[in-house]
Amino acid sequence: MSRPAPAGFTWWQAGVIYQIYPRSYADTDGDGVGDLPGITGRLDHLQRLGVDAIWLSPIYPSPMLDFGYDVTDHTGIDPLFGDLARFDTLIAEAHQRGLRVLMDFIPNHTSDRHPWFTAARSGRHDPYRDWYLWADPAADGGPPNNWRSVFGGPAWTLDGESGQYFYHAYLPQQPDLNWRNRAVRAAQLDIMRTWLDRGVDGFRIDAFRHLLKDDQLRDNPPKPQWRVGMAPYDALLPEHTADHPDIGDLVALIRAVIDNHPAPRGAAAPGDRVLIGELYLPIERLMRYYGPAGAGLHLPSNMHLIDTPWQAERVGALIDAYEAALPAGAWPNWVSGNHDRSRIATRVGPAQARVAAMLLLTLRGTPTLYYGEEIGMHDVPIPSELVQDPYERRVAGVGLGRDPERTPMQWTADPGAGFCAPHSRPWLPLAEDAAVVNVATQNGQEDSMVTLYQRLLALRRAVPALSVGSYSPLQAAGDVLAYVREHQSQRIVVALNLSDRPRTVALSGISRGRILLSTDPHRPTRQLAGTVILGPDQGVIIDEAMTS
Ligand code: NOJ
Repeated sequence: MSRPAPAGFTWWQAGVIYQIYPRSYADTDGDGVGDLPGITGRLDHLQRLGVDAIWLSPIYPSPMLDFGYDVTDHTGIDPLFGDLARFDTLIAEAHQRGLRVLMDFIPNHTSDRHPWFTAARSGRHDPYRDWYLWADPAADGGPPNNWRSVFGGPAWTLDGESGQYFYHAYLPQQPDLNWRNRAVRAAQLDIMRTWLDRGVDGFRIDAFRHLLKDDQLRDNPPKPQWRVGMAPYDALLPEHTADHPDIGDLVALIRAVIDNHPAPRGAAAPGDRVLIGELYLPIERLMRYYGPAGAGLHLPSNMHLIDTPWQAERVGALIDAYEAALPAGAWPNWVSGNHDRSRIATRVGPAQARVAAMLLLTLRGTPTLYYGEEIGMHDVPIPSELVQDPYERRVAGVGLGRDPERTPMQWTADPGAGFCAPHSRPWLPLAEDAAVVNVATQNGQEDSMVTLYQRLLALRRAVPALSVGSYSPLQAAGDVLAYVREHQSQRIVVALNLSDRPRTVALSGISRGRILLSTDPHRPTRQLAGTVILGPDQGVIIDEAMTS
């Protein structure tokens, strides 16, 4: 059973979600690619870490051109990862440890080898034709309009047989489904029910902002700020291809499945499941996905920490803007990294990664951790001959490839890092520091990253003010970000030094307090009346209500 949340809150509000990229977690069959038994075998680590749920990036049968985001069978498991029996074991073992399991749900597109697309492609009059998006060529024979693929190049590919173009927000091998077609909707909602029947506790919905496109196929306008060297996709504003005004209807449909479909034993009850939407959108537009009166997605993912410069003023302003925009009753969430973005330790540096961990785990809202953050994994440069990511291949040289943040998890100091057998060749190279930066070496070490994460997560669980308390800003200037979390009689202050020089924080009104946790166990934090002196790269959590 999952751990109880403070009264009045659900597990996914009080809890912490941990993203696993299955290819890179743990390989048990010697092929250099992670698998389901590998994940099951590492649940003890997750339990010790103290997270509440795992989100699995896709494990469905797939040609793996986009590493599983190109699905050929939505209700199966790719043999690379295991089979349904192994999946059931993973769910059972996770539930037994109080860990929830979330699946990646990929409604926007399928693989071009999916039987639906094979049928759709077979002729203009095939019943499946309308399951995808087709259009006649423009007058010059070229694509119907200027829409671009997120992965670079036109978003339309000509199907020579029928003489029509089909639309794909991503690779040409990932044709977009037509969500205006009722049969598509019904089929996709059934897929969700199938996984709920197997005991999953919720979904992370992939590429959600792309689900509906303009039915008049109007051109997207140019984006004035775009410069050569930026992502080619960003040359246009996705006005007619993303965040469509009618998308709310689909949110309601999906939410209804989550709320009404019965749950098997051990899984989250219908009212207790979680729906996360992958949404790279400006804050105001993100809010729409909570739905009217909270009837939409539970957690429209807030990716803004990833792109915000690591400066106290900027991060503070982001938190204020996000908190202010949340509709009544909407629950916040924070993401510091994922399999599509550079790792936090690379973005802010190893010393500040500890401060970032404290930020992520003490902000108001559900945090999502990305595997490997708990040991401070960084991006690994991938030599061109080893590049796997199709995005990197299509936009080479722009530095957008995603392989660096997808390298194998580092478990032990052994060759293979405990990810795979020493003689196996991992699908992406291991980090050069894997013999030092790994779970086994860091476990039990006073000043290691994993110890810091374990303590942060334990504290979050023990102190409801940190998991569900209110948020009020104290300072976002002079390299210091400080704020208060309050719940009932608890008042907790978090003070973070975002620089590598000592900083003084004036905490007026705080005359007594006890440091509950410091990012640096060796550096004593001096407390003066109403003032805290933070060492370089130091963050502290102070309990105000207790005497020192
Ligand atoms: C978003 C996923 O996170 C990314 O990895 C994938 O390439 C695209 N959606 C397409 O599914």
